[in-house]
Amino acid sequence: MKGIILAGGVATRLFPASKAISKQIMPVYDKPMIYYPLSTLMLAGIRDVLIISTPRDLPMFRGLLGSGDDIGMSFHYIVQEKPNGLAEAFILGESFLDGEGGALVLGDNIFYGQGFSSMLKRAVESVDDRGACVFGYYVKDPRAYGVVEFDEANRVVSLEEKPAQPKSNYAVPGLYFYDRTVCEKARRLKPSARGELEITDLNRVYLQENSLIVELFGRGFAWLDTGSADSMLEAANYVATIQNRQGFYIACIEEIAWRNNWIDRRQLRALGEAMSKTEYGKYLLEL
Ligand code: G1P
Repeated sequence: MKGIILAGGVATRLFPASKAISKQIMPVYDKPMIYYPLSTLMLAGIRDVLIISTPRDLPMFRGLLGSGDDIGMSFHYIVQEKPNGLAEAFILGESFLDGEGGALVLGDNIFYGQGFSSMLKRAVESVDDRGACVFGYYVKDPRAYGVVEFDEANRVVSLEEKPAQPKSNYAVPGLYFYDRTVCEKARRLKPSARGELEITDLNRVYLQENSLIVELFGRGFAWLDTGSADSMLEAANYVATIQNRQGFYIACIEEIAWRNNWIDRRQLRALGEAMSKTEYGKYLLEL
């Protein structure tokens, strides 16, 4: 399975901070935001990743992440000319996926919690043959998200994008796993009222085919928002709290590459030495 990170958008809710640079390149505590969704794909075992961003911002992601070679990965880049919706990722990414299934993660979605890696691996396996796997997360106010509704037997009955009157409190986070039919399904979507190819419409196609799995994250799990200045600060404080208490780093892509056996200790040391002036670099050197 291959992975796609969608890091577009204008982030007007973060102006003026995001006026001249992409939100997903801004730091959440000690590392660029995109490290967090990238680490999610890496924990799922995905090595081949397509990064999609705006014409203005894509060169900066290329400058940050390069070819991926230094962490044993392979990064590809493609421009999304206009904000035509999340599902367009699978039209733009069709030749990259080249007939394989794909995982999509949004460049501003941060996940953290025990058992996450095994959930991700289960998700990859569950769509290996056919189908899609998405997640549900209980939030106080789900109106800004895709919302999934269940019946008494916990079967999915509906999926709605940003409903004014949500049918449940379960938001669908920006992390989606799809089988090899995803590009063909994306091509058949029609733009929504707001003129976008909606990821929720794509998920509904799988629901109608009876091949959509929705896994729930429990209450001990963190899915953090980064849309506003306050939520950025809360996310940064969350990461700092865990890292400073435990000494384990969240979304340390070099560490994950090493633990996945994609790079050896010598390569890990070289990456640490290049950043030895920071706590982040020192952490790599002490692994
Ligand atoms: C998008 C999706 C929405 C999903 C959310 C997760 O919303 O359309 O279904 O719940 O990401 O972050 P947007 O970020 O475009 O408002």
